[in-house]
Amino acid sequence: GLSASAALARRPSITGAELRSAVPLPPPFQVPLPLPPVLKPVATSDGTDRYEITQRETTAEILPGVRTPLWTYEGTFPGPTIESRRGRPVTVTHRNTLPVPTVVHLHGGRTPADSDGYPTDLVLPEGWQEPHQQMGHGMQPGHGMRDPRAVVTTLTRSYTFPLDQRPTLLWYHDHRMDFTAPAIWRGLAGLQIVRDDAEDALGLPAGPRELPLMIADRAFAADGGLAYPALDPTLRVRPGVHEPYVAGVLGDVILVNGAPWPVHEVDAARYRLRVLNASNARHYELEAVTDDGRRLDLVQIGADQGLLAAPVTHRLLPVAPAERYDVVVDFSGVPVGGLVRVVNRLGTGRTRDVLAFRVVREAADDSRVPATLSADLPSWRPSDAVRVRDLAFRVGRMGGGHGWLIGGLPFDPARSDLTTGLGDVEVWRLVADVHHPVHLHLAGFRVLSRSGRPPLPHDAGLKDTISLRPAESVEIITRFDGYRGRYLFHCHNAEHEDMGMMANLEIT
Ligand code: C2O
Ligand code: CU
Repeated sequence: GLSASAALARRPSITGAELRSAVPLPPPFQVPLPLPPVLKPVATSDGTDRYEITQRETTAEILPGVRTPLWTYEGTFPGPTIESRRGRPVTVTHRNTLPVPTVVHLHGGRTPADSDGYPTDLVLPEGWQEPHQQMGHGMQPGHGMRDPRAVVTTLTRSYTFPLDQRPTLLWYHDHRMDFTAPAIWRGLAGLQIVRDDAEDALGLPAGPRELPLMIADRAFAADGGLAYPALDPTLRVRPGVHEPYVAGVLGDVILVNGAPWPVHEVDAARYRLRVLNASNARHYELEAVTDDGRRLDLVQIGADQGLLAAPVTHRLLPVAPAERYDVVVDFSGVPVGGLVRVVNRLGTGRTRDVLAFRVVREAADDSRVPATLSADLPSWRPSDAVRVRDLAFRVGRMGGGHGWLIGGLPFDPARSDLTTGLGDVEVWRLVADVHHPVHLHLAGFRVLSRSGRPPLPHDAGLKDTISLRPAESVEIITRFDGYRGRYLFHCHNAEHEDMGMMANLEIT
């Protein structure tokens, strides 16, 4: 059952860390921005919404005229969006018809440990007999599933999400040990939105003026398939690698909601843009530029874990892998017919462009951005902390090659790394060598400082992913509550994660 792997295994050409597509690419701002379909519950009973998702292969036309095989949730990339309400539980039953085992994690969810998608809690495809043998392709010996008895397997799996948490944009994606990066790259990512009455009452732009934007880079092989180097036996992306992949895998095509450099027609009015960087490794610094070179204000109203206390205005918004930014942009000052390009200042050539908005009509606008957005942000102080930990995220020597390490160690599902008590407040001092977007499961955190200086403007609010910049040390403060059990923290550069930059956190 590895036909899809074989079909996708092609040898892309590589320039630096960026894969070059081998098919013609469309000009920017021609393809309309798609909006992922909203998933309908199969049942709503006992105050719980029940959903079913089949993970399956499909072929889609992402680039005009090019057929691309994908791994999907319910046949679309991005997968269908799950719309949910704070405190109203959701169960999602996943059935895996893909050629490989999978794991589902709801990123940013406050989820009991047994539904959090631990990387060895596998959902197997039917007929999959010996997971530990067949998982061997491309896997680093001595790293990973040394003991197949540690692997928990099921043919379908129901995940329960209580969603007792602040409203925000979450995303669900694959989290299988050692294989997360190629699985997300092939399409296993979708959105889940949590809302509540307080947020609905604020009067923020809504309906067609609220747009989810899942930004992700990809590269396309000559046969139209997604190029990914780990599937090419001549290119190894595991530890012991290859310098080009220290940065992770980058593509030369920027997709938003699965479309290349799309364009969206808008009213001359305020829009709420719910930005997710779902790229494996690419960082963005976004700005919105008009035809006459003006940069529009990006008014940030929310972070990974929901609304800020008050809006923060940016001209340039850095977005690391897995981070979400909730941003309001006002197109009312743009003349009808004008184009607003959203560009990535860190990109070069074609990867500078992300998407564009074409202002097509004047329109009434009764939306607003209140000066006070939320009053329920946690205000932990360092003096509340019962523990301070130092955690270094570094590429180090390991065996004959390199390892992507936390505190000097690569991920081992059998090892307990940190133990904390339910309800404990902790300060973590995170240190990086190269760029690492660090993500903590279950608990949101606040940024206290960056290399001894105050946090940056975009560090505001409650976060679950923090961009550690090269040679930087960042202090965060968090509180572990809600559920006991085994959780994870890791680098969300998906290649770094697969190469071992992940650790266990036990809440007792
Ligand atoms: Cu977005 Cu541990 O994951
Ligand atoms: Cu990293």
